[in-house]
Amino acid sequence: LFAGEVEFLKGVVAMSGLPADDRIEVCFAGRSNVGKSSLINALTGRKAIARASNTPGRTQEINYFTLGDERYLVDLPGYGYANAPLDKVAKWQKLLKQYLSGRQSLRRAFVLIDARHGVKAVDEEILKLLDQSAVTFQCVLTKADKVKAHERDKVLTQVRSALSKHPAAYPEIVLTSSEKGDGIANLRAIIAGLI
Ligand code: GTP
Ligand code: MG
Repeated sequence: LFAGEVEFLKGVVAMSGLPADDRIEVCFAGRSNVGKSSLINALTGRKAIARASNTPGRTQEINYFTLGDERYLVDLPGYGYANAPLDKVAKWQKLLKQYLSGRQSLRRAFVLIDARHGVKAVDEEILKLLDQSAVTFQCVLTKADKVKAHERDKVLTQVRSALSKHPAAYPEIVLTSSEKGDGIANLRAIIAGLI
């Protein structure tokens, strides 16, 4: 499903620009710089179909990618700190919230959490919004290559405990490294299995 079947469709800056909601859609949300765009690249096996960068605030639009002819992958702007003008950030934060709470065909939101840092207060805000909107979300730990096993296990425990308070949380946590490829096949299978 992923090999050779992914194309960039469009970048969206307002809810009115969203494509028709007639496909199965999954999105990637998370703090700025957590690794959303890199994860899309790793999933699709394309080095730079989604633009990644070390500067937080790289993705500023809702970027749609077609996956085969039945699915969309959606790369979202980050929340929390972003290295961009404040008025611009405010605008995309508003759009992000509108999208996460108002997209009919959104089947699952993958919420990315840095494997070194765990769930932060800004993440909690988004998780609450997803609860309220009844959007099932699944946590993906990113940058697993940057943590040692004991540190990773501590963060996993913290994330599990945070998720237990959220009715919209899907319990399985996926551990990934876009750099090394850990967890990528598993996440592909999860996305392909959504109906
Ligand atoms: P915004 O679009 O700004 O919200 O960021 P993003 O969440 O899309 O992050 P992005 O994919 O641009 O990655 C941010 C930085 O983290 C880049 O320098 C990536 O190379 C790095 N990065 C992403 N994933 C991994 C990973 O699995 N391992 C390591 N070591 N670095 C990673
Ligand atoms: Mg990005």
